[in-house]
Amino acid sequence: MRGTVYLVGAGPGAPDLLTLRAAGLLARADVVFHDALIPSETLALATRAQKIAVGKRCGRHSTAQRFINKRLVDAATKYEVIVRLKGGDPMLFGRAQEEIAALEAAGVAYEVVPGITAALAAAAQLRTSLTQRGRVRSFAFATPRAGDGEDVNRWIDGFRGADAGAIYMGLCCAPAIADALIGAGRAPSTPVAIVVDASLPNAQTHYTTLAGLPAFARRDIGGAALLLVGPQFHARTAASAGDAVDLRALAQAG
Ligand SMILES: C[S@@+](CC[C@H](N)C(=O)[O-])C[C@H]1O[C@@H](n2cnc3c(N)ncnc32)[C@H](O)[C@@H]1O
Repeated sequence: MRGTVYLVGAGPGAPDLLTLRAAGLLARADVVFHDALIPSETLALATRAQKIAVGKRCGRHSTAQRFINKRLVDAATKYEVIVRLKGGDPMLFGRAQEEIAALEAAGVAYEVVPGITAALAAAAQLRTSLTQRGRVRSFAFATPRAGDGEDVNRWIDGFRGADAGAIYMGLCCAPAIADALIGAGRAPSTPVAIVVDASLPNAQTHYTTLAGLPAFARRDIGGAALLLVGPQFHARTAASAGDAVDLRALAQAG
C-alpha cells in the first residue's frame, strides 16, 4: 500500500471551525472522499485533489458503506494522501469504525483527525454549557436511529443514567423519543432545545419540552437538527440567546 488515509472531521458546518490539521491535510490531499453537506469553502482548500462525494444525508445502508470502504482501500494503492472528510467528528455517529476495520484488514496506514461535533456547536449557539457545575455532571450522546439487521437500539439506557444529553438524527422520531424519555422517568416538562444547522448563518433554535416535542416531527424544519434534553436547555429571552425562538412567547403573541 502506497498511501495513508486520513479520517478527518470537517466540523459542524461553518468552514472556519475546521482544525488547522484538517486544513493542512486538505491542502496536501491527492483525493478527498467527502460527506454530503460539506461546505464548498472547505472543499476549496483541497486545491490539488480530486473530490468525490460519497455521503448520504441520513440512513446510509450497509452496501453503500461497504462501497466507501472499498474505495478508500483502492485509493491507498494509487495515491499518497487520501482524505475521508466527514461532518462533525468522525468518531461520533460517523461510521468511522467500519472504515477503520476495512483499512486495518487491508493493511492500509491511517490516522484520525478530530472535528467539532454538532453538540458542541449547538452548545455554543445556545450559549448554554452541556455540563454545569453541581447540576449537570453527566451528558449522553445518543441516536434512536438503527439500521436494518442491527441489534435492538438501547439508546434510552444511556439517558437513564445521565443528567442531560444530545440526540443525533432524532427529529423524525420525536414522538417516540418523548415517549421513551417520559417512560424512563423524565418529567414531561423537561426542557428540550432543537438546534438546526448549528454554526451556519441560517441556524435556528426552537425551545420546547418533552411534552411539546412530538409536534416538531410534523413541522417542516429543513437542515440538520440536534435535540438537546436536560434541565439547562430551557427557553431564554431573545436578548440573552441571540437568535433563539421562544415558542411560549410566540404562542402568547398568537
Ligand atoms: C450522521 S450524524 C453525523 C454526526 C457528526 N459526526 C458529528 O459529530 O456531528 C448526522 C446528524 O448530526 C446532527 N448534526 C450534524 N451537523 C449538525 C448541525 N450543524 N446542527 C445540528 N445538528 C447537526 C444531526 O442530528 C444530523 O442528523
